[in-house]
Amino acid sequence: MLNQAPTKDNIIEMIEAVFTRHGADSYLGEQVTMAQHMLQAAWLGELQGESDAVVLAALLHDVGHYANKLPPEVLMSGTDNRHQESAASWLAPFFPAEIIEPIRLHVAAKRYLVTVDPDYRNQLSQASIDSLALQGGMMSAREVHEMEANPYLDMAIRVRRLDDQGKDPSLTTPDFGHFKVRLDRWLLSGDDRQ
Ligand SMILES: [Fe+2]
Repeated sequence: MLNQAPTKDNIIEMIEAVFTRHGADSYLGEQVTMAQHMLQAAWLGELQGESDAVVLAALLHDVGHYANKLPPEVLMSGTDNRHQESAASWLAPFFPAEIIEPIRLHVAAKRYLVTVDPDYRNQLSQASIDSLALQGGMMSAREVHEMEANPYLDMAIRVRRLDDQGKDPSLTTPDFGHFKVRLDRWLLSGDDRQ
């Protein structure tokens, strides 16, 4: 867990600490560690020519497991730790909505895709299918409608697909430092905080 209060001056260090301190934690029933998973999601985004915002949202999408009172393991023991919300609120003072909103929506995007795309469920890992019910399962027509009105839906789906792909034990990636310069560039200055 991250006890220190985040500021503009220490947030990137704190994010880096998540990668170094919790990097070796297993990723909830997957064959990759938490750090490998987030780095793979970002790296695959970069290789696929995704925008900076999508790459960085992919890099950070699961940090909420550590910015949370509920540790990641609770998700496997039957409680939704709502890591998408804790990541978004932890990072929102420091990064723009193009990064924050796809992170906030990456679980909703799974629920949305399972509902509207009959093939999508087959692309999910068993652990992702297992957590789906806990996270709300399929969407109602009203939830689908609300999701489709969200201006960040497309970016959230892009991040979601990278999340689903970033689970390959044989894929090597650059380390956190590779993405750090870009992360620094997207840090909001004091004037344009949300
Ligand atoms: Fe993830």
